[in-house]
Amino acid sequence: TDLSPTVFVLYGATGDLARRMVLPAFYQLAQHGLLPADWRLIGSGRGERSDEEFVEHVQGALEEFASGTDDGPWEEFSQRLRFAGGGFTDEDPGQLLDAVATARKELGDEAQLVHYLSLPPKAFTGYTKAIGAHGLGEGARIVYEKPFGASPEGFRELDDLVHSVFSEEQVFRIDHFLGKEGTQDLHALRFANGLFEHIWSREHIAQVQIDVPEDLDVADRAEFYDATGATLDMLVTHLFQVAAEVAMEPPVSFKADDILAARESVLAKFRPLQPEDVVLGQFEGYRELDGVPDDSDTDTFVAARLCIDSGRWRGVPFLLRTGKKLAAKQQRVSLILHRPKGPVDDVPANGNVVSLSLAGAGSVDIDVMAKKPGPDLAMAPARVSLDLSKIPGGDPLPPYVSLIHDVLVGDRSLFTTSEGLAQTWRALQPVLDARPEVHPYASGSWGPAAANELAGEHGWLLGQ
Ligand code: BG6
Repeated sequence: TDLSPTVFVLYGATGDLARRMVLPAFYQLAQHGLLPADWRLIGSGRGERSDEEFVEHVQGALEEFASGTDDGPWEEFSQRLRFAGGGFTDEDPGQLLDAVATARKELGDEAQLVHYLSLPPKAFTGYTKAIGAHGLGEGARIVYEKPFGASPEGFRELDDLVHSVFSEEQVFRIDHFLGKEGTQDLHALRFANGLFEHIWSREHIAQVQIDVPEDLDVADRAEFYDATGATLDMLVTHLFQVAAEVAMEPPVSFKADDILAARESVLAKFRPLQPEDVVLGQFEGYRELDGVPDDSDTDTFVAARLCIDSGRWRGVPFLLRTGKKLAAKQQRVSLILHRPKGPVDDVPANGNVVSLSLAGAGSVDIDVMAKKPGPDLAMAPARVSLDLSKIPGGDPLPPYVSLIHDVLVGDRSLFTTSEGLAQTWRALQPVLDARPEVHPYASGSWGPAAANELAGEHGWLLGQ
C-alpha cells in the first residue's frame, strides 16, 4: 500500500483489550495486506520485557484470539515489534522516548506517529498529559477507546484536556458500531440507490427501530458493567451513533469529512429524552453475580423513544432497545414503511420493512407483501435478503480491523467527534437528572413489559 511509514505506539500493550482486540486486529491488517510498507509497533507497559518477550506475548495473543501465526506474514510481522517498559508518565517516560526515537531513525523523520490508548478510561487523562509533556503530540494521531468520558462532566473535562494537547483532526474516538460493515451500508446503500434514498423520510417511514438484544450476561466484567449500565454502555454511545447514521442528511460528498459532518450535525437535532420516553430494566439474578453489590440499581436493559427534530424525521419515532440476558442476540436497524394508500386493504402494519443486520458482515432484508402463488389473488408476507459478505470481490473486515485501518489512512469518517459527543450527552441529560425506575425482568425474556408501550401499534419487530 502507499501508506506512509508508521510508528504505532500501543499503550496497555500487555493488557486484556490489546490481547483480545487490538493485536489480533493489527495482525489481520497484515494478513489483508493493509499495513504500510514500513512500520513499527511499540508496545508500552509498566513491566520490563525484552522485544523477544513481547514478540512471544503477541504470538500468544494471536494463538488465543485470532487464527494463530502458522500461516501468513508472521515472520516479517514479528520483526517489527518492539517493547518499551518502565511505564509512561509526565514525569518519567520510561523507555518510550528512546524507542520512538529509534523507530523514527529507522523509518525516517516523516514517519506518522500513532498513539493507541488501549487502556481503562480512567487512565486516558494521565497518558494524554504525558504524551503532551514529552512532545509526542505534534503531528501525531491518537486513538481513544470508548467510553470517552462516562458522564457529561467527565466528557467535558477529558475533552478539554485532549484539546490542550491535540487538535480535533488528530483525534480518533472509537465507537466500534460505526465500523461494522452493516452500519457503513446504511449510508452506502441509501445514497447509491433510489430504491432506498427516495423512501428515507417521514413521508414514507412510519417508525425506525434500532434493536440490539443480547443473550449473554456480563460475567467476566461485572465490576465495570455495574458502574456503567446499559444506558451509558450502549444507548448514548452505539445506539445514538447508529441512529445518527440512519437520520443524517445527504453529505455534500462521499469524502470522509463530509460524511462525518453530516452524521454529526443530525446529533444536534436529537430531542432530549424525557424520563417517560425511557424504560430501564435489570434482569432477575443480576445482583447475585460476583462483583455486583446486593442492592445494585444498575440498568442491564434500556429502551427509549427518541424524536429527531429535523424536517425529514419530524413525527417519526426512533425506538432504541438493548439489554443483557434477553431472548436473542441480534443487531437490527429496521425502517417500517407506512402502508401503501391503494387498493390492497389488508397490508399489515409491519408488512413493508427495510431492515439491516449489523452483526458480522451484515445483511439487508426487505419485508414485502407478495402474491401467494396459486390460482387466487391473495397476498402473503415474504422476505428478500442480501447477505453482504456474498457481494462479489468482497473481503469483509471486522469493525476493529476496519477502524484501525482508517486511523492509518487518516480517515475520520467512522469516528466520533467532540461536538457530536457533546450533543449525545445533551440529549441524555434529562434522564440523568431524573432517572426512571428500574423494572425487573426475567432472563430469556424481551425485557420489562413497560417497554412494549413505547413501540405503539407496531410493537417491537424482534420477538413478535
Ligand atoms: C461493547 C459493550 O461496546 O459492545 C458490550 O461494552 C457489548 O456490552 C458490545 O456487548 C457489543 O458489540 P459487539 O460488536 O461485540 O457485538
